[in-house]
Amino acid sequence: MNPADYSSFRRKLIDWYVDRGRDLPWRRNHDPYQIWISEIMLQQTTVAAVIPYFERFLTQFPTVADLATAEESEILKLWEGLGYYSRARNIHRAAKVIVEQYSGVFPTELDALQSLPGIGRYTAGAIASFAFDQRAPIVEANTLRLYCRLIGYDGDPRSRDGQERLWRFAEDVLPQKGSGRLNQALMELGATVCSVREPDCESCPVHSYCQTFREGTQATIPQPKPKTVITETTEVSIGIRMGSKFLLRKRTSNERWAGLWDFVRFEIEHAASTFDSAFVVGSVLDRTGLSIIMGPQIAVFKHSVTRYRITLKCFTADRVKGRLKANEEWQWVQPADFNGYPLSVTARQFAEQLKQQLVNDHETPKAGKTKKRSLEH
Ligand code: ADE
Repeated sequence: MNPADYSSFRRKLIDWYVDRGRDLPWRRNHDPYQIWISEIMLQQTTVAAVIPYFERFLTQFPTVADLATAEESEILKLWEGLGYYSRARNIHRAAKVIVEQYSGVFPTELDALQSLPGIGRYTAGAIASFAFDQRAPIVEANTLRLYCRLIGYDGDPRSRDGQERLWRFAEDVLPQKGSGRLNQALMELGATVCSVREPDCESCPVHSYCQTFREGTQATIPQPKPKTVITETTEVSIGIRMGSKFLLRKRTSNERWAGLWDFVRFEIEHAASTFDSAFVVGSVLDRTGLSIIMGPQIAVFKHSVTRYRITLKCFTADRVKGRLKANEEWQWVQPADFNGYPLSVTARQFAEQLKQQLVNDHETPKAGKTKKRSLEH
């Protein structure tokens, strides 16, 4: 785009944004704390999914000081289902830094923001521009696509050259005043009009400035990400029972879903022709120190995590003897108390099945009969 056109480009874009921009909860004020929380939640997550989480989060932790003094498990509980839990742990760490090193006042400098856990160049730019109206550029998924199309960048936008070009454009296009609103408008246009497939160029307020529109190359710009190769795996989750309680384990920092609680869970051979119950019993003994007798499979869930597509087979089992190994955090929990623990999504589904089974067992004389159910999510 020609730099001489920047100011008319900005005017057209802002007029459109004032008219068409969505009223989103985090756009209602300039509080850096709220903007920060929303931006972290919006990473890899849709606006529709974020809104209820954002509202619950701010009700429970209205200020950065409230967040800093919370227990990590309370934060994870509120984050449950949103995924990418390292975001929640980083938010907690950053809140403590803001309270301890900045007396609870959000830093305004880009460098200071970027040095906080979980805050990268994009999030720092979003906070600095939306909250403090600094002339700070932003490039995230929506703006990356929009900028590539506006300037007709047909190289790899994730390459060094691509990143340099896009960040430079993102900065050049900003006005001296009003960068926050312009950035919001750019992001909104990317999210709602300049979509991945079939961008709605006819209703785009700035199509006359867009090289890709002029050349009709929307289908090939930006260059798509290389496709991730999906690996199929099978895991088991074992609801080990002792009396009326089930064993939960806190997932450790070197695992996915660190800090969340789960039933005993591990990988088994994928697509094995027969289920190797002896392997499962032996693995449970190794991991927990408990001897078990396997019960029935009560559910199968299919879900995806990063590049893995997991089939999760859920069983109950009874502890017969043994003491829990001391190297992990364990809890024997009544089904009625599952809600007090932050669980992974599939552990929550399994927990719900166990609770339901308990209800059925009380209602019908044929205890132990269970239904098989398959869920996709
Ligand atoms: N995606 C990332 N940040 C966003 C924001 N502030 N508004 C809408 N979508 C977004």
